[in-house]
Amino acid sequence: MGEMVEEGSVTLNVEGAFYNPKMRLSRDIGVAVTKALGVNDYLDALAASGARGLRVAKEAGVGRVALNDISPRAVALIQENARYNGLEACEILSSNANVLLHERRFEAIDLDPFGSPAPFLSAAARSAMGYLFITATDTAPLCGAHLKSGIRKYMAVPVKADHHREMGTRILLGTVARELARVDKGMDPILTHATDHYARVYLKIKPGAKQADETLRGMGYIEQCRSCGRWRSAPGIVCRSGGVCAYCSERAEVAGPLWLGPIQDREAIGRALAVLERSQACSDRAVRLLQLCADEIDEPMYYDHHRLCRRFKVAPGTADDLVEDLRTAGWKASRTHFTGVGIKTDAPFEVIRDILYSN
Ligand SMILES: C[S@@+](CC[C@H](N)C(=O)[O-])C[C@H]1O[C@@H](n2cnc3c(N)ncnc32)[C@H](O)[C@@H]1O
Ligand SMILES: [Zn+2]
Repeated sequence: MGEMVEEGSVTLNVEGAFYNPKMRLSRDIGVAVTKALGVNDYLDALAASGARGLRVAKEAGVGRVALNDISPRAVALIQENARYNGLEACEILSSNANVLLHERRFEAIDLDPFGSPAPFLSAAARSAMGYLFITATDTAPLCGAHLKSGIRKYMAVPVKADHHREMGTRILLGTVARELARVDKGMDPILTHATDHYARVYLKIKPGAKQADETLRGMGYIEQCRSCGRWRSAPGIVCRSGGVCAYCSERAEVAGPLWLGPIQDREAIGRALAVLERSQACSDRAVRLLQLCADEIDEPMYYDHHRLCRRFKVAPGTADDLVEDLRTAGWKASRTHFTGVGIKTDAPFEVIRDILYSN
């Protein structure tokens, strides 16, 4: 027996395979979402020690669970861990995930790679019939810190902005939407979160050319002013940018293409939250995260409250007060899980400024 760890309701030998204890939060949430959705057929396509897939088998009540990894050492560990936890019914595979995904269809597919999921998206889009769950740990390329790598992987351009975490996540979602559209499928995001150094998305897959067309309506661009920080979203496949900030007349940069549509399904997140709260894997952090995600208004991007106050040279009150003031003035507003200082609203830049000035 090698190095053993306990996580959720399983005990795992993780020696010689990749196991990241910091991803436990992501796995706790993944198990709860999978159970809440009533998934019956699930593939952990890049399973390593089997931490994700074996927990799904044990805790989420999924009938058919398959775990796959290309590494022989990982496959040996998954077999040992499945036996040790009484999960012999799981199917254990040792394929290149891309080959497996081209050969077989699965209801739900989980992609949890090292770095970027981009190399697996095309095959996963073809194989997934009900759900696609994706982790991306390459936040530097997604958010613009490694620009060229991001362009190669996602064929999209991010710009430096306060809301770079959401921008990166929406670039990932936009890439997935386009991969699905190529095989006549659409998507509805169920839960989206960017936590620590990764982004994680849970998508409902909707087969059909019409669904794909509908999904592509969620694509667009963000026009971002370098000088004052004002931004606006511009829906469409083709970028129609004025190139000039409507507030300060400075040059506006364009980010995208990216996903502008909804990223949270409040009702489904509520069900996942209920499952999580009944489970032994429940943590305050996971509950808080899901609550924040469920409470986010359906508007792309956010403003950084501190930077807004600095730009307008006003003493910062609390972010909650600004949200309240915006709501009182008749606008939609919420906090965001992407950052503790973020404010989402449908109010125009000028309205936010006037509210800040009036306090
Ligand atoms: C980040 S780890 C997975 C972590 C795991 N899901 C967990 O929660 O602990 C990525 C795994 O993908 C495997 N892998 C990399 N390329 C692969 C490929 N083309 N096909 C199948 N597995 C692959 C690696 O061997 C590694 O075990
Ligand atoms: Zn401006």
